[in-house]
Amino acid sequence: MKIYDLSFIQAFMYSCQDGWQQNWHERNGGNLSYRMTDEEVRQVLCLNQTAPGAWTPIGVSVPLLAGQWYVVTGSGKYFRHVQHAPEDCLAIIEIDGKGENYRIRWGLVHGGRPTSELPSHLMNHEVKQRIGQTDIRVIYHSHPANTIALSFLLPPDDEVFSKTLWGMISECVVVFPDGIGVLPWMVPGSREIAEATSELMSKYDVVIWCQHGIFCAGKDLDTAFGLTHTVEKAAEIFIKVRSAGGNTDNAISMENIHRLEKAFLVKAQDDFGHRQVRDIHTAGEGYSFRKGEED
Ligand code: 13P
Ligand code: ZN
Repeated sequence: MKIYDLSFIQAFMYSCQDGWQQNWHERNGGNLSYRMTDEEVRQVLCLNQTAPGAWTPIGVSVPLLAGQWYVVTGSGKYFRHVQHAPEDCLAIIEIDGKGENYRIRWGLVHGGRPTSELPSHLMNHEVKQRIGQTDIRVIYHSHPANTIALSFLLPPDDEVFSKTLWGMISECVVVFPDGIGVLPWMVPGSREIAEATSELMSKYDVVIWCQHGIFCAGKDLDTAFGLTHTVEKAAEIFIKVRSAGGNTDNAISMENIHRLEKAFLVKAQDDFGHRQVRDIHTAGEGYSFRKGEED
């Protein structure tokens, strides 16, 4: 048996294929990380196919992740190739006892390193564990076109994005009642974007990077994928309505959002903390969030 035959690696590969088929992963776009269970680490070690690489600085400090093992996509690797070449595209990494370095235990057989967004992934994992959401095992970053297009049409504001998307499809407030965090455009792979994303991940399971893509957290691969899919579908509805020359004024009202809360026993985020638009230059003419319906 090969390491990639283990069921959790197979599930990881399946998710990569799903994302590719959704057209969310042009070229090497996007990356995925999964925190392994103790039993999965044991399964891997039992197969005796791990050769520890050199300890390498993560670039950020994640002490709570000390000793944990993750499956991650490789930097520059294509999601469309994962299914056929998992040993080349993926890696299993181990975090050191201080949460400062990682080493590759399996994968990337032709060289390379884990995703350039490893700082964001690991800081997101850490913040979830710090706030007690220890069931979160997956961080998923993808480049879905409608979500990215939406960042041209709305100001980069958590409340505006959250309420706009809740208004598009009934299931949105049920699937992401905590809402969505939004960051203005920033340099990918940087420590700065990792810190800013993890700050938002302490409040949300979804963070949109304007003109770039989306990060979703989930307790398993299905949840993180489904969350991305729901946000992207709602963004697509918004774009379709606007592209058809329509307006979104008859989106689901906040009054009806409250009815959904009661029916589905969810509590929609009502404290977005800040009211200001972070970076006004991306606010396009299409923006027409209906003030007065917020409360
Ligand atoms: P990697 O190939 O390094 O994972 O980068 C892809 C990406 O989407 C960067 O944001
Ligand atoms: Zn990206």
